[in-house]
Amino acid sequence: MKQLLSSYQLGHVPLKNRVVMPPMCMYKAKEDGCISDFHMCHYGARAIGGVGLIIVEATAVEACGRITDNDLGLWDDKQIAGHQKLNNILHDLGSKTAIQLAHAGRKSLCKESTPVAPSALLFSESGGFKKPHALDINEIEAIKTAFVKAAQRALKAGYDILELHSAHGYLLCEFLSPLTNQRNDLYGGSLENRCRLTLEICEAILHTINAPLLVRISADEWMDKGWNIEDSIYLSHKLKDLGVAMAHVSAGGNHAVQTLMPELKALYQSDYAKKITDSVAIPTIAVGMITTASEGETLLETKTCDLVAYGRELLRNPNFVHHIAKAYDCKEQIEVSYLRAY
Ligand SMILES: Cc1cc2nc3c(=O)[nH]c(=O)nc-3n(C[C@H](O)[C@H](O)[C@H](O)COP(=O)(O)O)c2cc1C
Repeated sequence: MKQLLSSYQLGHVPLKNRVVMPPMCMYKAKEDGCISDFHMCHYGARAIGGVGLIIVEATAVEACGRITDNDLGLWDDKQIAGHQKLNNILHDLGSKTAIQLAHAGRKSLCKESTPVAPSALLFSESGGFKKPHALDINEIEAIKTAFVKAAQRALKAGYDILELHSAHGYLLCEFLSPLTNQRNDLYGGSLENRCRLTLEICEAILHTINAPLLVRISADEWMDKGWNIEDSIYLSHKLKDLGVAMAHVSAGGNHAVQTLMPELKALYQSDYAKKITDSVAIPTIAVGMITTASEGETLLETKTCDLVAYGRELLRNPNFVHHIAKAYDCKEQIEVSYLRAY
């Protein structure tokens, strides 16, 4: 059996294969942040298509932490029921589920609210971004609580796994970077201080809930004197010590113009996952322009990562796993009602 289609034990959650659908915002919620029929069909199609682990898109832990007014949310108990229905569907179809808990920070484009950030630095003059308010210590405490409450709601809704969004220039990522975090209190300055918010939220979530926790990071922000892979290795050690189950290794997104951005080509982010896998005994998910079965298989064979995320490929092709299963002669992973197509 090829590794990509082999099972994997993520904490107490058994995955049927190593193919992950990474979180991808669909901006299809109404302004109440509740899940819609679109989400049921969208995620359901990938579950029928055989994906082992579906990570539901960035879901805001408070209303002003949405990227747009059409993001999903879990800041209110009334948002739980829709996620419960989604979990019932995805579980019945054989996928395991995670949800990415997120706060957009200074990248929020919500109409009514002022974005918040570690420091009052605008993301970009264009694109409708607003100057953020720099959080005070009490407001940081409230955001920590919002993450924990959203985590509890996610578990009530039946998610198997949680993912914390600490990547792509959203709030927690903004705290990590020396360029976007110019605070001089406990949450700014040294690397240790800049990592504090992500780590405290992980600790609080792990203390409260019994489910594997993944953390998505931007391994490098592609800027001179910015957050880099060495910082990510430091953070990954700390995450591992806390009991975080996996690092989901992405990159970039913290600046409108990224001066050290690499060429966007196949596997362009996978080396970061390899470096974290080699330096820290924490399992990883690799992501970023991985589009073929053989690319994913090679990443697993070379012990670059433990799971492989296919983002846009799964948007193009919800039945991608079926195609891999046919190519690798593993037809039991093809939805039985679709077998006559293969
Ligand atoms: C439509 C779209 C929405 C996305 N939304 C999210 C998101 O909610 N959270 C996140 O961490 N990354 C998000 N991403 C990034 C993807 O998870 C993934 O890291 C990226 O697309 C690179 O992988 P790929 O080349 O396989 O698509 C999004 C990407 C796309 C294309």
